[in-house]
Amino acid sequence: MPLLTGRADIDVVNWTEDRRCDRAWLLQNIPGASGLVVCFQDIVDREVVDVGGPNLRVVSTISVGYEHIDLDVMAERKIQVGYTPDILTDAVADSAVMLALMATRAAGQSYTFVKNNQWPSFNWTPFAFCGPQLSTTSFSPTRTVGFLGFGRIAHAVLARLAAFGITHCIYTPRPGAPPQTARDAHLQSKHNLTEVAPVDLPTLARRSDVLFVLAPGGPATHHLIDSAFLRQMKPSSVLVNNGRGSVVDSIALAQALKEGWIWGAGLDVVDEEAIPGGVTAEHPLVCEPRCVVLPHIGSAAQETREEMARLTARNVIAGVLGEELPVALDYSRLGSQV
Ligand code: DGY
Repeated sequence: MPLLTGRADIDVVNWTEDRRCDRAWLLQNIPGASGLVVCFQDIVDREVVDVGGPNLRVVSTISVGYEHIDLDVMAERKIQVGYTPDILTDAVADSAVMLALMATRAAGQSYTFVKNNQWPSFNWTPFAFCGPQLSTTSFSPTRTVGFLGFGRIAHAVLARLAAFGITHCIYTPRPGAPPQTARDAHLQSKHNLTEVAPVDLPTLARRSDVLFVLAPGGPATHHLIDSAFLRQMKPSSVLVNNGRGSVVDSIALAQALKEGWIWGAGLDVVDEEAIPGGVTAEHPLVCEPRCVVLPHIGSAAQETREEMARLTARNVIAGVLGEELPVALDYSRLGSQV
């Protein structure tokens, strides 16, 4: 990050390898630091802050998610937290729609088929590689999309799906959040939909043709999508997860796909990615033919990642200099980041 390394007034100690930072290295190098830059896989807990010492003023993460940072400790020590909301919204929404299309239209299966040199022996038949259609048509005029997590990214996904003729949008509100009747009416008329409405979890499961998981991680959302939820979904439905892997129980999802409780899945995140090396070619979801798995690249559009890097640098510089961060996490609005 030249924005950082080019400054004469700030000493930068850099993890130079192109992989997740070793915790031992972090603990060895953080003592005395005034600022810390992390990715979403780096756990910033009491130990890191204690070892860092009293100079630590700011933690700047190159992510919209912040469940890897212990906010109680940050608040207690008055350490500011910088993060990168908004600027990745469009890139992640694009990738959610891509996954929905890939999962509905068997793109993973058919692409693998060609890569495996099976096309030469392929007998084209009218229903080969058929999957449910994302867009509405005159002979299939309604489509319900569900959202678990209905924040900025979900709204951007909905805006894109309006062009596909989606008719109904249902979502589960955050626990305790006030009703958003005016906002929903606005979204409904803006996108020319028949319905935008909050529902409970079982209704979300039962009604969604495509379910987008865009909820933050952490204990409150851990395995919200479990066997009981998946068993209530339609056999023609598709699940897309661009939020956090921990929200979906991988074993339950693999069983749902194998036994046809749902039609397919598109995943940018998987629970086991939290374990280094946890998602191998033998992972039960990677082995499911109707499951498209990408390695957490939702925001990996060049322009977006460059802007995220710039904001992360600006946040840490401001914090180190004792200035207000360009984009600081407001501790009082927890859980609303995705
Ligand atoms: C985030 O920003 O939280 C993503 O998961 C990584 O870009």
